[in-house]
Amino acid sequence: MIRKCLFPAAGYGTRFLPATKAMPKEMLPIVNKPLIQYAVEEARDAGLQHMAIVTGRGKRALEDHFDISYELEHQIRGTEKEKFLAGTRELIETCTFSYTRQVEMKGLGHAILSGRPLIGDEPFAVVLADDLCLNLQGDGVLAQMIKLYKQYRCSIVAIQEVPRDQTHKYGVIAGELIAEGVYRVSSMVEKPSPEDAPSNLAIIGRYILTPDIFDLIADTQPGKGGEIQITDALMKLAQDGCVLAYKFDGLRFDCGGAEGYLDATNFCYENLYLKGL
Ligand code: G1P
Repeated sequence: MIRKCLFPAAGYGTRFLPATKAMPKEMLPIVNKPLIQYAVEEARDAGLQHMAIVTGRGKRALEDHFDISYELEHQIRGTEKEKFLAGTRELIETCTFSYTRQVEMKGLGHAILSGRPLIGDEPFAVVLADDLCLNLQGDGVLAQMIKLYKQYRCSIVAIQEVPRDQTHKYGVIAGELIAEGVYRVSSMVEKPSPEDAPSNLAIIGRYILTPDIFDLIADTQPGKGGEIQITDALMKLAQDGCVLAYKFDGLRFDCGGAEGYLDATNFCYENLYLKGL
């Protein structure tokens, strides 16, 4: 079964400069909680316990976040403020965290391949923390995808419909609808112009991958933007085997840019923070 979740987190976060000059973009807070913690909680809630984080230079804050801070915790022990750390402490106590560094920024495919030593030969999930996904009505996106994996046993990408003029920001799929919200992928293209996009079904930052993806990534030449794209490796998997695309239930905020970040902040403030969740 799926036990591990990989978090590619080595990127520079250039859309959020200067905030991300010395701070990892995954540490940007949505109200009072960093993006990476929302991501880890979504994985934990989906039953995953092993968190594998691909970091890079200047990303030490990520490791420190999922560790005990003795001085701070000593300082606030017995006070009202202890409760603010309870969620983070619970993650540290119930999950394992392992790290590796992506030493060169050669794309998402390359980042995932860098995580291979932490994953080994088993199916795993991938979460891009700057895509914040929330489903207040039920299971989180990753939990929904894991249910689907149990049924189909193949790689899955999460998708959502986007306006046609936005396709250049995403991997875009084409496929045959085989069940409600589930497509069997026949084609996928990284960041196509609206004219070249095979549909308006865009991949968002949630994947379930079978371990055969690693060799396929290793054989993938640089594609769009000169980077090794997971989309290109998945296209090969779709041709030779099976890749599904799943239209998930819930909301997704692109927190890598100002507009999505603000929307997420407003949404979480009203629906989570004010309710003490
Ligand atoms: C990456 C993937 C892209 C996907 C997107 C989702 O792009 O390459 O296929 O649609 O994540 O957020 P990035 O946003 O890292 O450029």
